[in-house]
Amino acid sequence: MVINGKTALITGGVSGIGKTTAKMLAAKGANLMLLDVNQQLGDEAVKSFQSAGTRAAFIRADVRDEAEMRRAFEETLARFGRLDILFNNAGISTPQPGFTRIAVEQWKRVLDVDLLGVVLGCYLAFPLMRENGGVIVNTASMAGVYPIPGDPVYAAAKAGVIHLTHSLAYWSGKRIRVNCVCPGQTDTPLARQQFRDEKAAGRIAPPVRKLISPEAIAEVVLQFIEDDSLAGQVVEVRPSGAFTVEARRAPKKRE
Ligand SMILES: NC(=O)c1ccc[n+]([C@@H]2O[C@H](COP(=O)([O-])OP(=O)(O)OC[C@H]3O[C@@H](n4cnc5c(N)ncnc54)[C@H](O)[C@@H]3O)[C@@H](O)[C@H]2O)c1
Repeated sequence: MVINGKTALITGGVSGIGKTTAKMLAAKGANLMLLDVNQQLGDEAVKSFQSAGTRAAFIRADVRDEAEMRRAFEETLARFGRLDILFNNAGISTPQPGFTRIAVEQWKRVLDVDLLGVVLGCYLAFPLMRENGGVIVNTASMAGVYPIPGDPVYAAAKAGVIHLTHSLAYWSGKRIRVNCVCPGQTDTPLARQQFRDEKAAGRIAPPVRKLISPEAIAEVVLQFIEDDSLAGQVVEVRPSGAFTVEARRAPKKRE
């Protein structure tokens, strides 16, 4: 897909990976609809994009809320006339100190934002992209690829996003391409907050050798958008580079 002149809706688009991706899309001539719960960062982001000549708007919406999400898609069409790219990127981490010591409501929130928010985004985008085609990119995490003992609910939510992507790809075909990026620890406000929470909870997090730049994640997202051959791809980004995560095959019968 040629990005110039296309419209992208980015959830979690005013911070970290979402905002960096928005900047790179804007540099290639995309129109931006930034969706987030953070009004202040949204207003600031739109101001700076508009002053740099990008057609950009912000909508305050919660990815867990069907009515707010519907309004965001309607607003995107009303403002820009089309939806070509959806980046389902909003996410939160699980509060520490961990699984059985946090309230049920807290881990339900992680599943609602990190998994069901992505499902809802895909669900609402598909009918709008059917005619002209489009690209959906979901953000999972390396936590969805490997077991994460310290944060099993976040890991389960992100594994769900990976499986959703592989499964949707089977019936969405080449017209609507669905792909997924799985960042390792990336230098964003979310990661920095997580380190502070773990420290405050007395947990000793495994040493982080090198944080990944948000630009490295955004580059993979742009590749998914621009390369028409990429559909149903799940790519893990580590400090050492990008790696494809294959869909799981049916298991062999046990002897
Ligand atoms: N930073 C990392 O190390 C890392 C690693 C793996 C995966 N991820 C994933 O990358 C994505 C982006 O995270 P980031 O690191 O850029 O964090 P970030 O906190 O900088 O950005 C996340 C954005 O999502 C928004 N958001 C949160 N809940 C929302 C909701 N219910 N509705 C709408 N918006 C909401 C936040 O306000 C924020 O602006 C997330 O899905 C996260 O799980 C991050």
